[in-house]
Amino acid sequence: MKRRIRPETAAVHRAADLEKKNAPVSAPIFQSSTFEVTDNDEQQRVTSTDRYYTRWGNPTITVAEETIAGLEGVDAARVFASGMGAITTTILGLLNSGDHIVAQRDIYGGVTKFFSEWLPRMGIETTLVDTTDYDQYERAIRSNTRLLYLESPSNPALRIVDFRKIAALAKKHELISMIDSTFGTPINQHPAEFGFDLVMHSGTKYLSGHTDLICGAVAGRRELIEPINESRTTLGNCMDPHAAWLLIRGLKTLAVRVARQNDNAMRVAEFLERHANVRRVYYPFLKSHAQHAIAREQMSGGGGMVTFEVEGTGEDARRVSEALRIFRLATSLGGVESLVSIPVLTSHAMISAEQREKMGVTEQMVRLSVGIENADDLVGDLEHALESVATHQSVPAGR
Ligand SMILES: Cc1ncc(COP(=O)(O)O)c(C=O)c1O
Repeated sequence: MKRRIRPETAAVHRAADLEKKNAPVSAPIFQSSTFEVTDNDEQQRVTSTDRYYTRWGNPTITVAEETIAGLEGVDAARVFASGMGAITTTILGLLNSGDHIVAQRDIYGGVTKFFSEWLPRMGIETTLVDTTDYDQYERAIRSNTRLLYLESPSNPALRIVDFRKIAALAKKHELISMIDSTFGTPINQHPAEFGFDLVMHSGTKYLSGHTDLICGAVAGRRELIEPINESRTTLGNCMDPHAAWLLIRGLKTLAVRVARQNDNAMRVAEFLERHANVRRVYYPFLKSHAQHAIAREQMSGGGGMVTFEVEGTGEDARRVSEALRIFRLATSLGGVESLVSIPVLTSHAMISAEQREKMGVTEQMVRLSVGIENADDLVGDLEHALESVATHQSVPAGR
């Protein structure tokens, strides 16, 4: 019987499977757009393999995909040129004109835009529901609903969706359940174990982990991955082999990076929660988090993302983000270096103020992607930045 390996082991060892004899320990990069065959019979045989034409597949890309499938504990995975590429290609591969999606309101702004402005042009409608109101999900389901789309923890308010409830709902109504698990990582949560059909990642973030590439991934059962594969080939939304190799390298250290980021983020969240110039902290493993119990049950770590609201105005939030020295002011997340961004100006800038308000994304919000640096240095940096606002506002620091 084949023994199932744990995610920390899969992340490192899946990547060495390309050559069996005197194998290179690091998977080689097959930087080739096409593969030579001896005759046309072989040409036809290779069409369905990863040695035909790189838009269809490529051995280096296969290693990345098998590693991700192993991490999520599912049959198969596909990688894409970006996280948005993974989402759009998956949905276009699985849904038809006339189909309907039920999605939680708290999702990445780019996906909100795709659902509200692009899919309607193709005859696909979406109903957005309040993220943690499960009756609303059920009420929104129609006879033509095909997909339940989730994101947990959500961006940027870090709301947590109850995996058991959603998977049961999808099963009851025979819907495909798809979750953006980017913030969760395959180290902190395994939605497929709860019955989710498709687990998606912006690989740009934790999977690659070094802020040096853009990519996406979708993992799930083989019969769902097949049409997604077809759609990827047709839309041309494939990854370059060199980028796939960078992803493989990043994946090898995923478990240790995430463990450190979990610890650092908890320290940062606890510090912020005690600070007088902070109105509210959003972190799933804080007791004050609205879905803390569910987070503890379905996640093994709280993740590296911490969002907080400053006690003040949007201007104050900007000032704090600009006063930080170790946290660098840049959008994106999940890398080894700590980053700070203002959601209304970055991840959620592309959606309307009305949509943002419904999602609870405020101007006072500051989003931190906590890296692997020394936790004391990170806390010191925040302390300094928050004090500079205190001076400006004449609010006493510390509580
Ligand atoms: C949660 C989440 N999903 C999807 C995406 C889109 O991924 P990408 O930028 O790799 O296309 C992002 C990007 O920030 C994200 O934060």
